[in-house]
Amino acid sequence: MLNRRLHLMALAAATLAAGAAQAQSDTVKIGVILPMTGPSASTGKQIDAAIKLFMAQSGGKAGGKKVEVIVKDDNGTANLTARMAQELIVNDKVVAIAGFGLTPLALTAAPIATQGKTPMVVMAAATSAITEASPYIVRTSFTLPQAAVSIAEWAPKHGIKKVATLVADYGPGNDAEKFFVDRFLLNGGQVLEKLRTPLRGADFAPVLQKVRDAKPDALFVFLPSGQGAQFMKQFGERGLDKAGIKLIATGDVTDDDQLNDMGDVALGVVNSHHYSAAHPSAMNKKFVADFEAMNKFRPNFMAVGGYDGMRLIFKGLDATKGAGGDALLAAMKGQLFESPRGQILIDAQTRDIVQDIYIRKVEKKDGQLWNIEFDVQKAVKDPGKTK
Ligand code: PHB
Repeated sequence: MLNRRLHLMALAAATLAAGAAQAQSDTVKIGVILPMTGPSASTGKQIDAAIKLFMAQSGGKAGGKKVEVIVKDDNGTANLTARMAQELIVNDKVVAIAGFGLTPLALTAAPIATQGKTPMVVMAAATSAITEASPYIVRTSFTLPQAAVSIAEWAPKHGIKKVATLVADYGPGNDAEKFFVDRFLLNGGQVLEKLRTPLRGADFAPVLQKVRDAKPDALFVFLPSGQGAQFMKQFGERGLDKAGIKLIATGDVTDDDQLNDMGDVALGVVNSHHYSAAHPSAMNKKFVADFEAMNKFRPNFMAVGGYDGMRLIFKGLDATKGAGGDALLAAMKGQLFESPRGQILIDAQTRDIVQDIYIRKVEKKDGQLWNIEFDVQKAVKDPGKTK
């Protein structure tokens, strides 16, 4: 405890020094913490690639200064995230920390951002409450309530009256289950089973057997990015599709990072999310083409969270002429711009993202699988916010 307090005092002192250093230097640094290794490595790979693309396109300059990005690999391990956040603020004197591949990693960094008075841009993690963990947090990913409510609106209007739910057993899974179930019940639906799987090393066979036995019209699923292909394989192997049980999900499951490897079992899966690589705007077509040319793989929603997070920081730095801290935070609030996903707004009150949520269906086009958008809810605020 004492040790921690000393750390925080050192952090507060270092912050003052950092402010002075930032104002004088002609280079500003952004610290990015990502799981580049470990079970969530695909999230790190996607965001890192998007940041490199953004840096190449922008020329790496903002607010009249050269921008240097420092990427640290936390392996998806919370105590590493915390240590790296501290080092980036105190030693590297970054103007902002960014990244955060999973909810527990974002939550562990939040008090460090507060103490260091350093803006923290959450590019991936998606539990609603994260933005309330520090007044310095701004989010460019999404929230599970945004995605879950939209599919819970769509399903009962399309013949789905009885469901089972299956979520990863941690923050975003809690949000997905609660917001899906509440809205589905409100719309007259029935929930037969609420099932959970552990975040790490999930074997879906036992829960899928329960779903088979319960015979719902559909199974609603949220799993974090990286688990979709494994789940889809077992869904097919257990014959749930052949037993007439539809699959509906948040777009984390039909993730563009893995979608093409899922095979025909994924065809027809209806899901809701804020980004599809198939989004038909001119800006997105260019984004996907440039991203694929540079990285040789398709961008997913994590990549877009990273790309827009960089844009947010750069626009903020333009407004502050390179200053960080409270000035940069203020300059990020209320920003409105077109993203490859569509229009986005950073709500100045909640610091959370307001964005369109699309209903999509997995379809095959030119031999590849895509999430094809066919309906949209415009400008969705996080339904998880109480104020
Ligand atoms: C999270 O941990 O907040 C998280 C991770 C991956 C997702 C969604 C949420 O796809």
